[in-house]
Amino acid sequence: MEKKIAIIGLGYVGLPLAVEFAKKYPTVGFDINGTRIDELMNGHDRTLEVDDEDLRKVISTDLVSIEKNGKGLYCTTAIKDIENSNFYIVTVPTPTDKNKRPVLTPLIRASESVGQVLKNGDYVIYESTVYPGVTEDECVPVLEQVSNLKCNQDFFVGYSPERINPGDKERTVTKILKVTAGSTPEAAHVINELYKSVITAGTYLAPTIKVAEAAKVIENCQRDINIAFVNELAKIFNKLDIDTNSVLEAAATKWNFLPFKPGLVGGHCIGVDPYYLAQKAQEAGYHPEIILSGRRLNDDMGKYVAGEVVKLMMKNSLPVLGSNVLMLGITFKENCPDIRNTRAIDVYKELQSYSVNVDVYDPWADSKEVRDEFGFDLIEKPLKEYHAVLLTVAHKEFLDLLLSSYLVDGGIVYDVKGVLDFNLKNLFRL
Ligand SMILES: NC(=O)c1ccc[n+]([C@@H]2O[C@H](COP(=O)([O-])OP(=O)(O)OC[C@H]3O[C@@H](n4cnc5c(N)ncnc54)[C@H](O)[C@@H]3O)[C@@H](O)[C@H]2O)c1
Repeated sequence: MEKKIAIIGLGYVGLPLAVEFAKKYPTVGFDINGTRIDELMNGHDRTLEVDDEDLRKVISTDLVSIEKNGKGLYCTTAIKDIENSNFYIVTVPTPTDKNKRPVLTPLIRASESVGQVLKNGDYVIYESTVYPGVTEDECVPVLEQVSNLKCNQDFFVGYSPERINPGDKERTVTKILKVTAGSTPEAAHVINELYKSVITAGTYLAPTIKVAEAAKVIENCQRDINIAFVNELAKIFNKLDIDTNSVLEAAATKWNFLPFKPGLVGGHCIGVDPYYLAQKAQEAGYHPEIILSGRRLNDDMGKYVAGEVVKLMMKNSLPVLGSNVLMLGITFKENCPDIRNTRAIDVYKELQSYSVNVDVYDPWADSKEVRDEFGFDLIEKPLKEYHAVLLTVAHKEFLDLLLSSYLVDGGIVYDVKGVLDFNLKNLFRL
């Protein structure tokens, strides 16, 4: 069977995948965001996951050429452009609402779109992170209703979670082993073969779609809980006046000690996915203790960090009211422009509640996006003398800054990430 791929949702996950498929198959990228499509068609990826040069190598200006050449990527907002595809891969967001409940609307909308063009013999594969059951219990009914076709008779579904780590230029999509699953053994085989043809690291065929869904969500739950544990340790050791990072370094000399570090847990994966599993557990009548307490602990770390900085300023005879603090980093993680669900904003807001003036410097974040999302302007570069410098995100540029040159006499440095030279004068770590 000739494979024609459609990727639904061209974000951090969808675009790198589309580029890989496009090297082998005619691939159409569909997204509802017209600005994103225009940028991609002009050869630029603002998420910086795909180099512009690599994108331009696969981008094609028309649908006919990708069909004729048997490869290439065409991006579009028009649903009719994906009607000739036979593999639909859905990579849309799975956020939570303000009450931390899963929001399946993008998945449902994407399923409605695919349902409109679904034909006999097609495959629909979901990659978005979900709780077990979403593909078969929430998405398949939408596909069936809109298409008037029957799953496992007329069309087939699959699930293959994405495991990329944004900003990581080493472990890119093809270098991470991919879990796959299908709605029948035959469908699972076809889907597994499709991924095997582009993922050089290989694939792992899970026995069912629910197993594959559950496996992905627990990867992130596990990280969240492990980080919550070291965050708790940081709170304990701060009270005991022991440097947590030094304790962790010493403990990590044992072969089976897990090397997690304390910090802010943001982004749209680790800080979000545990709520998906928790919701499903609660629906099934089980209240998850560890998962939710890990979440609570991690969600409170921004306030904790700000409180620690203020205490340290007072202990060091620095003013708090009206003082100037430089915050280094607003994105949710290092060397990545993504500000969604960043927890650095909690530190900013909490410091402001103490009437501290906070300047935020972040060469990775888009200033307009920050203004639209949080209502303040990033500084272009630090020019003042500050009472405290707070490193919230370990962007590579920050590691070379001469921090003492930004400080008033006796000013302090607070290192949330534990990456700065520990011998620096007046340095404190989370
Ligand atoms: N970003 C990561 O590092 C990462 C890693 C592994 C898994 N995931 C999971 O992958 C999924 C996608 O995440 P992401 O970071 O790529 O999201 P994203 O926000 O970067 O991209 C999603 C894209 O989907 C588009 N979209 C939204 N609704 C749509 C619809 N109905 N039809 C077509 N396009 C639509 C958006 O415009 C956007 O361009 C999520 O479930 C996420 O949890 C993300």
